[in-house]
Amino acid sequence: MAPAPELKAPKKGISHSTLGRTQRWSWIFQRVSGVALILLITIHLTVNLIMGDGINQIDFAFVAGKLANPFWQWFDFVMLVLAMVHGSNGMRMIIDDYARTKWMHATLQWALRIATVVIIVLGTLVLFTFDPCPAGADASLLPSFCEGI
Ligand code: HEM
Repeated sequence: MAPAPELKAPKKGISHSTLGRTQRWSWIFQRVSGVALILLITIHLTVNLIMGDGINQIDFAFVAGKLANPFWQWFDFVMLVLAMVHGSNGMRMIIDDYARTKWMHATLQWALRIATVVIIVLGTLVLFTFDPCPAGADASLLPSFCEGI
């Protein structure tokens, strides 16, 4: 009887246990930040779209009123950073999987890194430098606490 054919060892797949240290942290970060984002976005949408007058309440005064409050500044900052890092980390993996040439891979990864940093920096500047009572503005458009400033 012919001997049984020799079977090749199965290829090592990218399972959780075979990932490197950085990859493992990236995997854990995506899960943890995903759950945190569900909570943050639910609060964000409830406060902006359901409570009070809902979507009709969103105007300059509403946004200015929120961004004059350190709680909402830091809430929005955490949501901004988590959403951007979660989204760009996901995109990084998609580029790793699909970019075919070295050149395309490097170009896309750098474009992604630059876009992520620019958006986080600009978003953070908005949150912490926003002037709720700009001089010379129509007082009827400003939050009530601007009166007398
Ligand atoms: C219809 C849906 C949405 C509406 C009407 C809305 C409305 C607003 C408004 C009025 C602000 C100004 C500040 C504040 O309210 O805290 C804001 C900021 C923000 N929203 Fe939303 N939002 C919506 C969906 C989302 C979703 C799905 C995300 C996902 C993460 C998000 C992330 C953010 C972030 C990070 C900021 C702060 C941006 C910055 O100034 O740096 N929003 N949004």
